[in-house]
Formats: sequence, C-alpha cells, structure tokens
Amino acid sequence: MSQALPIPEGLPAERDAGPFDPPRGITRMREARPVMPLIFPDGHEGWLVTGYDAVRQVMADTRFSSRLDIGIVHVPYQTPGMPAPTEPSPQIPGMFIAMDPPDHTRLRRKLTGAFTVKRMKMLEEHIIDITERQLDALARLTPPVDLVKEFALPVPSLVICELLGVPYEDRETFQSNSAQFLVKDQTVEEKVGAYNALTTYLAELVTRKRAEPGDDILSDLARHDDLTIEELTGIAFLLLLAGHETTANMLALGTFALLENPGQLAELRADPGLIPDAVEELMRYLSLADVFYRYATEDIELGGETIPKGSTVVVSLLAANRDPHRFDDPDTLDIHRKARGHLSFGHGVHQCLGQQLARIEMRAGFDGLLRRFPTLHLAIPADQVKLRTDMNIYGVHELPVAWTETPR
Ligand code: HEM
Repeated sequence: MSQALPIPEGLPAERDAGPFDPPRGITRMREARPVMPLIFPDGHEGWLVTGYDAVRQVMADTRFSSRLDIGIVHVPYQTPGMPAPTEPSPQIPGMFIAMDPPDHTRLRRKLTGAFTVKRMKMLEEHIIDITERQLDALARLTPPVDLVKEFALPVPSLVICELLGVPYEDRETFQSNSAQFLVKDQTVEEKVGAYNALTTYLAELVTRKRAEPGDDILSDLARHDDLTIEELTGIAFLLLLAGHETTANMLALGTFALLENPGQLAELRADPGLIPDAVEELMRYLSLADVFYRYATEDIELGGETIPKGSTVVVSLLAANRDPHRFDDPDTLDIHRKARGHLSFGHGVHQCLGQQLARIEMRAGFDGLLRRFPTLHLAIPADQVKLRTDMNIYGVHELPVAWTETPR
C-alpha cells in the first residue's frame, strides 16, 4: 500500500464545518477516494470507506468480520498505545455485535422475537405514556433547563430499563459507567474499569433473574439453559448501552438541529404527520453512531480496490449518508426527503436490532416536545453548545433550552 495517505491523528473529528456536518477532512476524503488506504498513528495500515455504495457493501459482506471488539480491549487508533489488531480478537461472551455467523446468529436469534415490529407496535402506547410523563415533569421546571438531563436521556433509559428489567433506581451506576465507556481518549485501564464495574453489576442482576425470572427480556433470556451467565451478562451490557445512549443523543441533537432550522421546524409543527419522515431524515443527517470497524478475512474487491486479507477497515456512516451520489443536496436537512435507505442503523446481519424501538421513541419524543413546548428555544448561543466530539456516540453534552409560554 505505497500510496497510503498518512492521517496523523486518525479520522478528523473536529466539527470544522458546523455541529451537524461531517468534518471537512472526511468529505474531502470521500470526494478524492471513497475507498482509501490509511495509516493509523501506530503505523499499521488499514482502509477508510466513505462512499455510500462501498460502505453498504462492507456492511453486507460478512467476509468483513465484526470480530474487532467494540473498544474494550482495543479500538485501533482511538486508544493511545494500544497494539494494532492484526487478527480477529477473542470473542467476549454475549457481545454479538462483535461476532460473526454462526455465533452471531445463535445469539441474535434469541432476541429477534422481542424486538419485532409487531411487539414494538404493542409497546407504542406505553412509550408515549412514558414520554408524556417526562414532559409533564419538564413542564414543572423553571427554564432554562438542560434538555439532555431532563428529557432526552430519561426517556430511552426508562424504556430500556423497563424492557430489560433493570431497576431504573440503579441508573447512577450504569449511566456513569456506560458514559465513561464511550469516551474516546482514555486509557485502557479506565475503559476496563468501567467495563468491569458494569459487568459485575449486570452479572449479579442476570444471576438473580435466572433464579427468579420476572416479566422482562433478560428474564426471558435467562430461561434459556444454553446461555451461560457470562453470555447473559454480555447481552445485557450490549442492550443497555445500545439502548439508551444512541436514542438519547438523537433526541437532543435532533432538537438542536431542528431549532437551528426554523423553517423545517415550523413545517413539522404545522403538520405532525411529517414526523416519521423527519425522524428518518434526522437519522441520516446526524448519523451520530458514525464509525464502525471491520476486519478483512480474505482479499476482497471493493470499489475498484483490493482490500488485502488482514486489513482493518473503518467505515464512516456519516460520510456515506452525505454522499451526493446517493442523496441529492445531502448537506441540507429536508424533512420531506424520503431518507429511508440511509445507513444510520447499519446494514446486513448486524443491522440495528433496536431500530423499531428507537423509531417509536424518537417519534413520540419529537411529537410530544414540539406539541407541548411551542416556544422552545436555545437558552445559550448555538456556538456555545458543548458537542460530544470526545465521545464515540456523537451528540451534545448539554442542551440548555427555555420557553416563554406555560406549556400545556
Ligand atoms: C446495532 C445504530 C438504537 C440495539 C447497531 C448498528 C448501528 C446502530 C449502526 C450496527 C453496528 C454494526 O454493524 O457493527 C443505532 C442508532 C440508534 C440505535 C443510531 C438510535 C437512534 C438502538 C436501540 C437498541 C439497539 C434502542 C435497543 C435494544 C442494538 C443492538 C445491535 C445494534 C443489540 C447489534 C446488532 C447485531 O450485531 O446483530 N445499532 N442503534 N440500538 N443496535 Fe442499535
């Protein structure tokens, strides 16, 4: 790979094109070469995939293995001083997002029934109730308030805790540890510390559920004798982490994006029937779970390049979702766009298990918030909003908002 471009600090992370747009460096890379060799800071070689078609192809092809773990032991360039992965990592029991078929299939299959469109539809009323109650609590506060703390984080946390059967009162433990886990620039010791704290907590929880199952997803899983406690713990970890950080950030960053696009916001308020399309478009436009890793298990042709066996392949969903070859005028937020086909929930066998749940939460969340807070606005200048460029899931750390009318 003699033409490899050195990228001294890994992928550009700075939001130099604004809070919602990809870093300029990433856009330039996609324009120059959508499948591009790169060199990680530690000197090992890999590939960066930014074009829509190529990213989709990587995610659809299980020869691009997912057996690179999700940051517990080594994320290739974001954890300073870590060895480069040159072979698949050992599997972490239960963590099926980092497994390949048939191990992946065996575990995912045990959960598909719990997350079907039909099951999620049945939960919709209940999720709307949870959302409205949280909005009641929000309305009782005196603005300005932090929308992340008072709304965007509690709603998905309450929902996933209830579904999984994790006591919401324990959220201090699992929220601080899971947040810690998503910090990009931290030592391995810190990462392992947060991981151990969370898994110790969850191992005790699933052990109790195995002894005395209740009416929740983890109890249903605990009834499967062929799942070990370690596997149950790994699955619980994955669902808990994936189930609240992502949706919480979508609610907060999505609200910020709408407030910054007043024309679109006004249209959405005037016609709430547009909310499902707006949610898809916000998913595309914000792509807050951006970077995913794969590992080439053999030489593979991709976008006119040959990816050699053993390469680490980095895909950027944000770059792919802003590819003008796939979406017209991709850097414009357009709630009338039919954005389905975006890659924000991934693609292929690992496509997001919780996507229907996330959609229902986002629809209920945006619908309730816009309806009940017609004068919602930022309480600080937009350029002072603290962006999560330091985290593996993008979003805002806080979103101070205010309103002038007493909400209904
Ligand atoms: C997988 C994004 C919400 C559970 C994924 C993947 C993406 C993603 C991109 C694919 C990862 C890969 O291919 O390596 C999102 C976004 C969400 C969201 C943007 C919110 C807006 C949720 C929720 C749950 C969830 C609410 C709740 C249970 C999972 C699980 C996987 C996954 C278990 C692994 C699936 C597998 O490996 O087969 N998600 N997700 N996600 N997501 Fe989500």
